[in-house]
Amino acid sequence: MKTAVYPGSFDPITNGHLDIIIRAANIFDRLVVAVLNNSSKTPLFTVEERVELIRDSIPKVPGCEIEVTSFDGLLADFAQSIGATTVIKGLRAVSDFEYEFQMALANRKINHRLDTAFLMTSERYMYLSSSLVRDLGRYGGDISDFVPLKIQKRVIDKLRK
Ligand code: PNS
Repeated sequence: MKTAVYPGSFDPITNGHLDIIIRAANIFDRLVVAVLNNSSKTPLFTVEERVELIRDSIPKVPGCEIEVTSFDGLLADFAQSIGATTVIKGLRAVSDFEYEFQMALANRKINHRLDTAFLMTSERYMYLSSSLVRDLGRYGGDISDFVPLKIQKRVIDKLRK
């Protein structure tokens, strides 16, 4: 069984993330979507909330078992602990690449069996990010094209609190 891990902050999950999840699920037998529990950041949503928002957003993809969980520490160690040999990263623009290239090599240095596969996001979501969603939502902008339908109300309620 080929397992991949798709790590991120997902604060909150966007349609761009969802697009990458579905693309990866069409390639791998098992996909673990892993939310980083990063104590040095102050996220909008707690880790538990982010995990729940992702669980409520993802569709069933035949042929792939999708799990959603959280992790802390090094991604390379977490990948090993769940039997993943591939890290999935979404690329939106060339500007993402330099940082991601460095991360991919660092992860492979720590865990030499761990490769990173870059999937191109749909061009519809090239400019989309969680921080854009947070800013738009906070100031009354329309986030309906950017966030999975099932969680839109929860994201808007949280941002307008
Ligand atoms: O959605 P993000 O915030 O861009 O995701 C970043 C993430 C979670 C993929 C990255 O910060 C990460 O892997 N953090 C875990 C620590 C780690 O392993 N760092 C890389 C090697 S030093």
